[in-house]
Amino acid sequence: MTTLKNVIVTGGAGYIGSHVIYVLQKTRRYKVISIDNHHNSHPAALDRVSKLSQSELPDDATDADRESTKIESYKCDLTQPEQIKAVFEKYGKGGIWGVIHIAAYKAVGESTQIPLTYYANNVSATVFLLQVMADYECHRFVYSSSATVYGTPPVIPIPESTKLQADSPYGKTKVMCETILDDLCHSDKSWRAISLRYFNPAGAHPSGQIGEDPRGRPGNLLPLLAQMAVGRVKDATLKVFGNDYPTPDGTCVRDYLHIMDLASGHVLALDALAPESKVFDANADAFFKAYNLGKGKGLSVLQIVDAMRKATGFDYKYEIIGRRRGDVPDLTADPTLAEKELGFKAPANLETMCRDLWNWQTKNRLGYDTQ
Ligand SMILES: NC(=O)c1ccc[n+]([C@@H]2O[C@H](COP(=O)([O-])OP(=O)(O)OC[C@H]3O[C@@H](n4cnc5c(N)ncnc54)[C@H](O)[C@@H]3O)[C@@H](O)[C@H]2O)c1
Repeated sequence: MTTLKNVIVTGGAGYIGSHVIYVLQKTRRYKVISIDNHHNSHPAALDRVSKLSQSELPDDATDADRESTKIESYKCDLTQPEQIKAVFEKYGKGGIWGVIHIAAYKAVGESTQIPLTYYANNVSATVFLLQVMADYECHRFVYSSSATVYGTPPVIPIPESTKLQADSPYGKTKVMCETILDDLCHSDKSWRAISLRYFNPAGAHPSGQIGEDPRGRPGNLLPLLAQMAVGRVKDATLKVFGNDYPTPDGTCVRDYLHIMDLASGHVLALDALAPESKVFDANADAFFKAYNLGKGKGLSVLQIVDAMRKATGFDYKYEIIGRRRGDVPDLTADPTLAEKELGFKAPANLETMCRDLWNWQTKNRLGYDTQ
């Protein structure tokens, strides 16, 4: 029987985590162990992922293929080292091949209100996780970073070499974790870590079985538009924060990529941690790299509203209000490095993202809780 590699995905039940687990399962090379405390997610997401993967198994699937579609799920809080340890203990020293650390709090505005909660949940938890990994001889790490690490970048599209200068506590937690990883990899060359700086993931798996279902009012534009169109968010008018930015239509520009493309980037990153991978130069001081995951194409708020109008048929009303503190005019990735070194591609266009988002939203009007 082919041996599956045990991989822990933290935040596995969340929006990005659930899609990452799906693409890992699709390779039939990994056995996924999910860690999540369900602070912002529903355990049902994991059942849906498994069912979806099982429904795609070929008739001649092996036992290992079937095993790869099951998820070992642990309700575990990463701010509690004993709970992390209990999971690793089940697999023993060397039993976990690698970790994809996705769990975090992610609301920029909220992080300015409760910074200590963000530093504890995003930074302390990462340190605890790395310490437990070291104790259990697991040294491969893929990290969920963010374009917010660039603050207001001087050059667009943004290359990875840009100085990191996040503005918000949330963004700073991502910079701190990258710094910690860099230091750790410099201290000990048995560590290999890749930080993935996500731009704006959007859409859902094309089946509509899994998608984004934030608890409370969506903080991001696309899920907000989807929930407005389906009647879950009752606002009659969308508030657009500023139309006097130095962008083509004056509204903020972001780099949207399909969630399935973003998720696929994680398999590439994980594979790049394998000893046979050529991504790291054997003579490097440390085996740590950061990559932008974006399309390299900026789209404005008004372009997104227009695309969602076409996808949903909903007649969005919007009003322009003043700029929001902390917003930067343009965050568009230069994804060349990830394309060249990891083989990353983000082919899905905005129309596909909106179609898949709307498919998910209409099939799950109230998200995972009810149909
Ligand atoms: N969604 C985006 O637009 C975006 C953009 C850039 C970066 N990111 C990063 O990607 C990651 C995932 O984002 P997402 O959109 O899937 O968010 P999400 O909230 O859907 O997923 C995060 C998951 O982590 C879990 N979690 C949080 N704290 C935990 C803890 N202490 N212990 C265990 N589980 C915990 C949550 O319950 C949730 O399931 C985050 O690190 C976020 O900062 C997201």
